[in-house]
Amino acid sequence: MQNSLQTLKAFYKTPETPESFFLSLEGIEGSGKSTQVKFIEKVLINKGYRVLCLREPGGTEFGERLREAILRSSTPLHPLAECHLFLASRAQLLKEKILPYLSQPKSVVILDRYIDSTLAYQGQARKLGFETVLDLHHHNPLNLLPHRTYFLDIPLEVSWERQKQRGQEKDYFEAEKAEFYNDLIHGYQMTAKLFPERILTLDARGTVENVSQFIQQDIERIIK
Ligand SMILES: Nc1ncnc2c1ncn2[C@@H]1O[C@H](COP(=O)(O)OP(=O)(O)OP(=O)(O)O)[C@@H](O)[C@H]1O
Ligand SMILES: [Mg+2]
Repeated sequence: MQNSLQTLKAFYKTPETPESFFLSLEGIEGSGKSTQVKFIEKVLINKGYRVLCLREPGGTEFGERLREAILRSSTPLHPLAECHLFLASRAQLLKEKILPYLSQPKSVVILDRYIDSTLAYQGQARKLGFETVLDLHHHNPLNLLPHRTYFLDIPLEVSWERQKQRGQEKDYFEAEKAEFYNDLIHGYQMTAKLFPERILTLDARGTVENVSQFIQQDIERIIK
């Protein structure tokens, strides 16, 4: 299993425009992804970069319609149907937004969820397996990986506490039970082991400022 995963990894690449970076944030609901996207955006704008922040699924007109179709689904979708919908949204986002933006120098794309969400949700929690999900990402443009991914790691109880405080109605995934979420957390931890050079795991139980400080230090190392 480990060998075939390593073989699949060989098909991936990162963007190559000088001084341009592709970053993503990952973690379960309430882990602080959207909060940290805004922080990173500010840091990089202050350093003179053009910055584009996007979320998945969505980010394009077509992708936002897919997002609604998935997150508002009242029937459980087949895991492969779910996976292909996310991939359709991702391919469109790469074509319309990410690739054109990253072809310019001094440009940064920050994504709120990307391939590691698919590995954790569909690969692990929905049990499609990492091989299947990686295999589906073999082809251009889906084989583009970020230079750096921040995995904001929190336990389930912290996620639920933050969701309770937010007080919104639960969507398709948020309505899942504890077992699903524990699988998800485990899935993210496995993706971090599979891509150790790309994924930085952060203990996101700390304050917003604490987490931001770690991210800022890492970004300064990346862009120097
Ligand atoms: N480190 C932190 N400590 C305490 N609260 C936090 C921290 N990070 C974020 N929060 C708060 O937790 C809530 C969820 O944060 P945020 O929306 O950034 O998470 P998210 O990962 O984007 O969630 P989702 O996947 O549901 O969009 C917000 O109310 C935010 O202010
Ligand atoms: Mg968010």
